[in-house]
Amino acid sequence: MSQGRIITVLLLMIAGFGVMVHLFTAAIAPPEADPSVASFNLSRPRAPAEARKLVNPIPFSQKMLERGRDIYHEKGGCYVCHGDSGKGDGEAGVLLAPKPTDLTNGNFQLLRKDGEMWWAIKHGVEGTGMFSYAPRTITEEEAWIVIHYIRTLNEAS
Ligand code: HEC
Repeated sequence: MSQGRIITVLLLMIAGFGVMVHLFTAAIAPPEADPSVASFNLSRPRAPAEARKLVNPIPFSQKMLERGRDIYHEKGGCYVCHGDSGKGDGEAGVLLAPKPTDLTNGNFQLLRKDGEMWWAIKHGVEGTGMFSYAPRTITEEEAWIVIHYIRTLNEAS
């Protein structure tokens, strides 16, 4: 075989290998991420790790639970997206992608520390309809109080 032919054969082999790799990876590549599905990936934390260590400074009591309910349904306007029952089916929530978190979800309640919820209420969740609500709409203290109410929405309790 002449040197030219050997080079041609080698080039064809390399090109063929490239096409095979392309076809193979195209076949196994996941479909484009759907943001409304991504929101259900609860195992992805929304807050930095240090937020897990923050402790709710407001002790739980019946009075705080009632205040939390008022914040959720009135001052904070949380129900508009998260829904009256917390399922994420509020009037504005159904239009959003990713969807508002289903606050009644037992896995969500188990995975998230109060500090992470507080962080999300204070800073919002980037790239979603969860904006920063404290201290603009509710105070930072009220953000801790509304979490006492959110805890009672847990379907698993
Ligand atoms: C404009 C719609 C909207 C309003 C109003 C709203 N939220 Fe959200 N919220 C969202 C969306 C969307 C998400 C989902 C974000 C995501 O997928 O991480 C979310 C997520 C959350 C989470 C979960 C964060 C985590 O750790 O995963 C908490 C807690 C929360 N909201 C609390 C509140 C509280 C409390 C209020 C009221 C003060 C409120 N939200 C108002 C849209 C809203």
